[in-house]
Amino acid sequence: MQPFDRYAVMGNPVAHSQSPAIHSLFAEQTGQQLYYEPLLVAEGDFSQAVALFFAEGGRGLNVTVPFKQQAWQLAGQLTERARRGGTVNTLWKDSQGVIQGDTTDGAGLVHDLVHNQGLHIKGWRVLVLGAGGAVRSIIEPLLAQQPESLVIANRTAEKARELVAALEHTPDLLACGLDELNAPFDLVINGTSAGLHDGCPAFPQAIVGPDTVAYDMMYGAGQTAFNHAMLSLGARKAFDGVGMLVEQAAESFLLWRGVRPQTRAVLSSIRERLHH
Ligand code: ATR
Repeated sequence: MQPFDRYAVMGNPVAHSQSPAIHSLFAEQTGQQLYYEPLLVAEGDFSQAVALFFAEGGRGLNVTVPFKQQAWQLAGQLTERARRGGTVNTLWKDSQGVIQGDTTDGAGLVHDLVHNQGLHIKGWRVLVLGAGGAVRSIIEPLLAQQPESLVIANRTAEKARELVAALEHTPDLLACGLDELNAPFDLVINGTSAGLHDGCPAFPQAIVGPDTVAYDMMYGAGQTAFNHAMLSLGARKAFDGVGMLVEQAAESFLLWRGVRPQTRAVLSSIRERLHH
């Protein structure tokens, strides 16, 4: 029997990560021999933990909160999208022993929006709430879908302006404060961390019209506070971030194993796990 290749997700906290379950289902489906575990890493120990993992023969890592920026700094080589996105959620060692870093979050989000939910963003007015690391990694993949405009709105307006100013200038990319928003959007994506504490960013009601679709990058056992608020205000549909989670995992699996798993059945299993 072939030995099992070792993979892990490093985070803090990490116990509730669905990544081990997702990758086990992917491995089963594609017949790949691998083992994937959650690794709780203390805040100051990330770089040593990564070095040890690869020294012991580990094949690939996912990186989650709060280590995605550190992973970006630590990687010996970054893919172009990771370099521009400023965060890394996937690491592996190449045949020369160099630690490679990539970010699959933006691709995962777009894959979920377009392929799972059937949303065609081209020509849409898109609003993203938040201006942290989670938002930075999705801006370029969203722009690649050619929306009419992409507005990044943050509670602290200055942070949104800095984020946008750091990117290559595109006329359809704008930044503002949450309180400056005054018209409806076709798609509103919540990329703030307010949902970590069951909260919802305070946005003006004017952003929601009868055609507005809501997408919360967060997820939980039930409807998120953001999606609840958006639907109450008359949004047409609301999706949570479970699809993004499974799709970013599929992109990581592709990088490591050279095959992109089918995600539909895995998505159902993970939803069921979250509800129990
Ligand atoms: P992440 O890496 O998850 O993006 P982060 O870099 O700490 O985390 O960024 C958190 C984002 O969520 C920020 O845009 C933050 O807004 P501020 O820059 O104004 O702090 C936003 N955020 C967090 N809690 C929020 C809340 N209750 N309402 C609105 N925005 C919130």
